[in-house]
Amino acid sequence: MKVKLISVFVFCLLFAGIFSCKHYPFLVTNDHLIDTSSIDTSHNPPPVVGIPCDPDSVYFDSQILPIFVSNCAQSNCHNATSHKDGYTLTSYLTIMSHGIHAFQPTSGNIMNSILDGEMPPGSASLTTDQIALLELWIQQGCHNNHCDALCDTTNVTYSGTIAPMMQTYCNGCHNSNVQSGGIRLDLYSKVSSLALSDSLTNSVTANGVPLMPKGSQPIPNCMIDEIRIWKIAWAPNN
Ligand code: HEC
Repeated sequence: MKVKLISVFVFCLLFAGIFSCKHYPFLVTNDHLIDTSSIDTSHNPPPVVGIPCDPDSVYFDSQILPIFVSNCAQSNCHNATSHKDGYTLTSYLTIMSHGIHAFQPTSGNIMNSILDGEMPPGSASLTTDQIALLELWIQQGCHNNHCDALCDTTNVTYSGTIAPMMQTYCNGCHNSNVQSGGIRLDLYSKVSSLALSDSLTNSVTANGVPLMPKGSQPIPNCMIDEIRIWKIAWAPNN
Protein backbone atom coordinates (compact mmCIF):
# COMPACT_ATOMS: atom_id res chain seq x y z
CA MET A 1 0.00 0.00 0.00
CA LYS A 2 2.75 2.37 1.07
CA VAL A 3 4.74 1.61 -2.09
CA LYS A 4 1.66 2.24 -4.19
CA LEU A 5 1.05 5.59 -2.49
CA ILE A 6 4.65 6.64 -2.99
CA SER A 7 4.58 5.75 -6.68
CA VAL A 8 1.36 7.74 -7.16
CA PHE A 9 3.03 10.68 -5.41
CA VAL A 10 6.14 10.42 -7.58
CA PHE A 11 3.99 10.21 -10.71
CA CYS A 12 2.08 13.35 -9.67
CA LEU A 13 5.32 15.20 -9.05
CA LEU A 14 6.63 14.23 -12.48
CA PHE A 15 3.34 15.18 -14.12
CA ALA A 16 3.26 18.58 -12.38
CA GLY A 17 6.91 19.08 -13.32
CA ILE A 18 6.25 18.48 -16.99
CA PHE A 19 3.25 20.79 -17.15
CA SER A 20 4.69 23.61 -15.06
CA CYS A 21 7.59 23.79 -17.48
CA LYS A 22 7.53 27.18 -19.19
CA HIS A 23 9.30 26.14 -22.37
CA TYR A 24 8.95 23.18 -24.64
CA PRO A 25 12.52 21.94 -24.76
CA PHE A 26 12.53 21.17 -28.47
CA LEU A 27 10.30 21.60 -31.47
CA VAL A 28 10.74 19.78 -34.74
CA THR A 29 10.24 21.88 -37.81
CA ASN A 30 11.02 21.03 -41.41
CA ASP A 31 12.90 17.99 -40.12
CA HIS A 32 15.26 20.15 -38.03
CA LEU A 33 15.43 19.99 -34.29
CA ILE A 34 15.19 23.53 -32.98
CA ASP A 35 16.21 24.48 -29.47
CA THR A 36 13.40 26.65 -28.18
CA SER A 37 14.67 26.96 -24.62
CA SER A 38 15.44 30.62 -25.22
CA ILE A 39 11.83 31.35 -26.10
CA ASP A 40 10.11 33.45 -23.47
CA THR A 41 6.41 32.74 -23.26
CA SER A 42 5.83 34.62 -20.01
CA HIS A 43 3.76 37.34 -21.69
CA ASN A 44 1.42 34.85 -23.29
CA PRO A 45 -2.04 34.15 -21.92
CA PRO A 46 -2.76 30.66 -20.63
CA PRO A 47 -3.93 28.59 -23.59
CA VAL A 48 -7.58 27.64 -23.78
CA VAL A 49 -7.50 23.87 -23.48
CA GLY A 50 -10.00 21.12 -23.86
CA ILE A 51 -12.36 22.57 -26.46
CA PRO A 52 -11.49 21.11 -29.85
CA CYS A 53 -12.49 23.21 -32.86
CA ASP A 54 -15.44 21.84 -34.80
CA PRO A 55 -14.69 22.56 -38.48
CA ASP A 56 -18.38 23.29 -39.11
CA SER A 57 -18.61 26.00 -36.45
CA VAL A 58 -17.47 29.60 -36.66
CA TYR A 59 -15.77 30.80 -33.48
CA PHE A 60 -16.13 34.34 -32.17
CA ASP A 61 -12.81 34.38 -30.37
CA SER A 62 -10.50 33.26 -33.13
CA GLN A 63 -12.41 34.11 -36.31
CA ILE A 64 -14.92 36.94 -35.76
CA LEU A 65 -13.33 39.23 -33.16
CA PRO A 66 -10.06 39.53 -35.14
CA ILE A 67 -12.04 40.73 -38.18
CA PHE A 68 -13.59 43.54 -36.12
CA VAL A 69 -10.40 44.47 -34.28
CA SER A 70 -8.23 44.50 -37.37
CA ASN A 71 -10.65 46.23 -39.70
CA CYS A 72 -12.85 48.44 -37.53
CA ALA A 73 -11.01 49.24 -34.30
CA GLN A 74 -8.16 51.36 -35.61
CA SER A 75 -7.52 54.63 -33.80
CA ASN A 76 -10.02 57.31 -34.87
CA CYS A 77 -12.45 54.54 -35.80
CA HIS A 78 -14.30 52.13 -33.52
CA ASN A 79 -11.88 51.40 -30.70
CA ALA A 80 -12.48 52.05 -27.01
CA THR A 81 -11.08 55.59 -27.15
CA SER A 82 -12.51 56.95 -30.37
CA HIS A 83 -15.75 54.88 -30.62
CA LYS A 84 -16.84 56.77 -33.71
CA ASP A 85 -20.64 57.28 -33.99
CA GLY A 86 -20.92 55.44 -30.67
CA TYR A 87 -19.62 52.14 -32.07
CA THR A 88 -16.96 50.32 -30.06
CA LEU A 89 -16.15 47.09 -31.91
CA THR A 90 -13.62 45.43 -29.64
CA SER A 91 -15.55 42.85 -27.61
CA TYR A 92 -18.50 40.49 -27.86
CA LEU A 93 -20.74 42.66 -25.70
CA THR A 94 -20.00 45.92 -27.47
CA ILE A 95 -20.32 44.32 -30.91
CA MET A 96 -23.61 42.62 -30.06
CA SER A 97 -25.09 45.76 -28.53
CA HIS A 98 -24.70 47.60 -31.83
CA GLY A 99 -27.17 45.90 -34.05
CA ILE A 100 -26.14 42.42 -35.06
CA HIS A 101 -29.15 40.12 -35.07
CA ALA A 102 -28.65 36.41 -34.46
CA PHE A 103 -29.84 34.20 -37.36
CA GLN A 104 -30.37 37.31 -39.57
CA PRO A 105 -27.18 37.96 -41.49
CA THR A 106 -28.66 40.66 -43.70
CA SER A 107 -30.18 42.78 -40.95
CA GLY A 108 -28.79 45.14 -38.34
CA ASN A 109 -26.69 48.28 -38.71
CA ILE A 110 -23.31 46.59 -38.67
CA MET A 111 -24.06 44.00 -41.35
CA ASN A 112 -25.95 46.52 -43.47
CA SER A 113 -22.99 48.91 -43.50
CA ILE A 114 -20.63 46.06 -44.41
CA LEU A 115 -22.88 44.62 -47.14
CA ASP A 116 -23.51 48.10 -48.61
CA GLY A 117 -19.75 48.58 -48.86
CA GLU A 118 -20.05 51.63 -46.58
CA MET A 119 -17.79 50.08 -43.93
CA PRO A 120 -14.87 49.82 -43.61
CA PRO A 121 -14.66 53.13 -45.53
CA GLY A 122 -12.44 53.72 -48.55
CA SER A 123 -10.85 50.86 -50.40
CA ALA A 124 -10.27 48.75 -47.29
CA SER A 125 -13.41 46.62 -47.63
CA LEU A 126 -13.64 43.17 -46.08
CA THR A 127 -12.79 40.18 -48.26
CA THR A 128 -15.61 37.95 -49.49
CA ASP A 129 -14.25 35.19 -47.21
CA GLN A 130 -14.47 37.47 -44.18
CA ILE A 131 -18.02 38.51 -45.05
CA ALA A 132 -19.02 34.86 -45.60
CA LEU A 133 -17.56 33.97 -42.19
CA LEU A 134 -19.50 36.77 -40.49
CA GLU A 135 -22.71 35.66 -42.18
CA LEU A 136 -22.19 32.05 -41.17
CA TRP A 137 -21.45 33.02 -37.57
CA ILE A 138 -24.70 35.04 -37.47
CA GLN A 139 -26.65 32.17 -39.08
CA GLN A 140 -25.26 29.87 -36.39
CA GLY A 141 -26.66 32.17 -33.67
CA CYS A 142 -23.83 34.64 -32.90
CA HIS A 143 -22.31 32.55 -30.13
CA ASN A 144 -19.58 33.95 -27.89
CA ASN A 145 -17.60 30.76 -28.41
CA HIS A 146 -13.97 29.70 -28.52
CA CYS A 147 -11.95 26.55 -29.14
CA ASP A 148 -8.32 25.46 -28.89
CA ALA A 149 -6.28 27.28 -31.50
CA LEU A 150 -5.50 25.22 -34.56
CA CYS A 151 -1.74 25.32 -35.02
CA ASP A 152 0.63 23.05 -36.86
CA THR A 153 4.01 23.84 -35.37
CA THR A 154 5.63 20.97 -37.29
CA ASN A 155 4.96 22.44 -40.71
CA VAL A 156 5.27 26.22 -40.60
CA THR A 157 5.30 28.02 -43.94
CA TYR A 158 4.82 31.62 -45.02
CA SER A 159 1.90 30.92 -47.33
CA GLY A 160 0.14 28.34 -45.16
CA THR A 161 0.79 29.72 -41.67
CA ILE A 162 2.19 33.25 -41.41
CA ALA A 163 0.33 35.04 -44.24
CA PRO A 164 -3.13 33.76 -43.15
CA MET A 165 -2.29 34.68 -39.54
CA MET A 166 -1.39 38.23 -40.60
CA GLN A 167 -4.56 38.40 -42.68
CA THR A 168 -6.71 37.42 -39.69
CA TYR A 169 -5.08 39.44 -36.96
CA CYS A 170 -2.97 42.25 -38.40
CA ASN A 171 -3.55 43.30 -41.99
CA GLY A 172 -6.57 45.50 -41.33
CA CYS A 173 -4.26 47.98 -39.53
CA HIS A 174 -1.11 47.21 -41.50
CA ASN A 175 -1.76 47.24 -45.26
CA SER A 176 -1.03 49.45 -48.25
CA ASN A 177 -3.72 51.99 -47.26
CA VAL A 178 -3.56 51.82 -43.49
CA GLN A 179 0.05 51.62 -42.35
CA SER A 180 -0.27 51.97 -38.58
CA GLY A 181 3.11 52.78 -37.08
CA GLY A 182 4.42 52.99 -40.67
CA ILE A 183 4.21 49.22 -40.95
CA ARG A 184 2.76 46.91 -43.62
CA LEU A 185 2.17 43.25 -42.91
CA ASP A 186 0.58 42.24 -46.20
CA LEU A 187 3.87 41.70 -48.04
CA TYR A 188 6.37 38.88 -47.59
CA SER A 189 9.34 41.28 -47.74
CA LYS A 190 8.00 43.39 -44.85
CA VAL A 191 6.79 40.51 -42.68
CA SER A 192 10.06 38.60 -43.08
CA SER A 193 12.30 41.55 -42.24
CA LEU A 194 10.22 42.29 -39.13
CA ALA A 195 10.39 38.63 -38.16
CA LEU A 196 14.16 38.45 -38.61
CA SER A 197 14.70 41.54 -36.46
CA ASP A 198 12.40 40.04 -33.77
CA SER A 199 10.02 43.02 -34.05
CA LEU A 200 7.20 40.66 -35.01
CA THR A 201 7.63 38.45 -31.94
CA ASN A 202 8.20 41.46 -29.68
CA SER A 203 4.96 43.04 -30.86
CA VAL A 204 2.80 39.96 -30.18
CA THR A 205 4.39 39.43 -26.74
CA ALA A 206 4.50 43.13 -25.71
CA ASN A 207 8.24 42.84 -25.29
CA GLY A 208 9.31 46.48 -25.04
CA VAL A 209 6.61 47.64 -27.50
CA PRO A 210 2.81 47.91 -27.29
CA LEU A 211 0.96 44.60 -27.52
CA MET A 212 -0.33 43.70 -30.98
CA PRO A 213 -3.04 43.24 -32.19
CA LYS A 214 -3.57 46.68 -30.69
CA GLY A 215 -6.56 46.98 -28.39
CA SER A 216 -7.25 43.25 -28.38
CA GLN A 217 -6.35 40.07 -26.59
CA PRO A 218 -3.02 38.47 -27.56
CA ILE A 219 -2.91 35.89 -30.33
CA PRO A 220 -2.83 32.27 -29.09
CA ASN A 221 0.44 30.90 -27.68
CA CYS A 222 0.91 28.31 -30.38
CA MET A 223 0.74 31.03 -33.07
CA ILE A 224 3.48 32.96 -31.29
CA ASP A 225 5.49 29.73 -31.43
CA GLU A 226 4.75 29.46 -35.16
CA ILE A 227 6.19 32.96 -35.70
CA ARG A 228 9.31 32.02 -33.74
CA ILE A 229 9.75 28.75 -35.58
CA TRP A 230 9.46 30.53 -38.94
CA LYS A 231 11.97 33.14 -37.82
CA ILE A 232 14.46 30.54 -36.58
CA ALA A 233 14.25 28.89 -40.02
CA TRP A 234 15.23 32.33 -41.51
CA ALA A 235 11.68 33.32 -42.44
CA PRO A 236 11.54 31.47 -45.78
CA ASN A 237 9.15 32.48 -48.58
CA ASN A 238 7.57 29.05 -48.84
C1 HEC B 1 -6.35 47.87 -34.45
C2 HEC B 1 -5.18 48.16 -35.22
C3 HEC B 1 -3.99 47.27 -35.14
C4 HEC B 1 -3.94 45.89 -35.30
C5 HEC B 1 -5.09 44.94 -35.48
C6 HEC B 1 -2.55 45.54 -35.26
N1 HEC B 1 -1.77 46.66 -35.11
FE1 HEC B 1 0.26 46.74 -35.05
N2 HEC B 1 0.19 48.73 -34.73
C7 HEC B 1 -0.95 49.49 -34.65
C8 HEC B 1 -0.59 50.87 -34.31
C9 HEC B 1 -1.56 52.03 -34.14
C10 HEC B 1 0.83 50.90 -34.21
C11 HEC B 1 1.73 52.11 -33.87
C12 HEC B 1 2.20 51.99 -32.44
C13 HEC B 1 1.10 52.25 -31.46
O1 HEC B 1 0.31 53.20 -31.62
O2 HEC B 1 0.99 51.48 -30.51
C14 HEC B 1 1.29 49.56 -34.49
C15 HEC B 1 2.61 49.18 -34.48
C16 HEC B 1 3.07 47.91 -34.78
C17 HEC B 1 4.45 47.52 -34.83
C18 HEC B 1 5.64 48.44 -34.55
C19 HEC B 1 5.90 48.37 -33.07
C20 HEC B 1 6.99 49.29 -32.64
O3 HEC B 1 6.68 50.21 -31.86
O4 HEC B 1 8.11 49.09 -33.08
C21 HEC B 1 4.51 46.20 -35.14
C22 HEC B 1 5.76 45.33 -35.32
C23 HEC B 1 3.14 45.75 -35.26
N3 HEC B 1 2.29 46.81 -35.04
C24 HEC B 1 2.79 44.45 -35.54
C25 HEC B 1 1.46 43.99 -35.52
C26 HEC B 1 1.11 42.60 -35.66
C27 HEC B 1 2.11 41.47 -35.81
C28 HEC B 1 -0.25 42.54 -35.62
C29 HEC B 1 -1.11 41.32 -35.67
C30 HEC B 1 -0.80 40.26 -34.77
C31 HEC B 1 -0.75 43.90 -35.46
N4 HEC B 1 0.33 44.75 -35.40
C32 HEC B 1 -2.09 44.24 -35.40
C33 HEC B 1 -2.23 49.06 -34.85
C34 HEC B 1 -2.61 47.74 -35.02
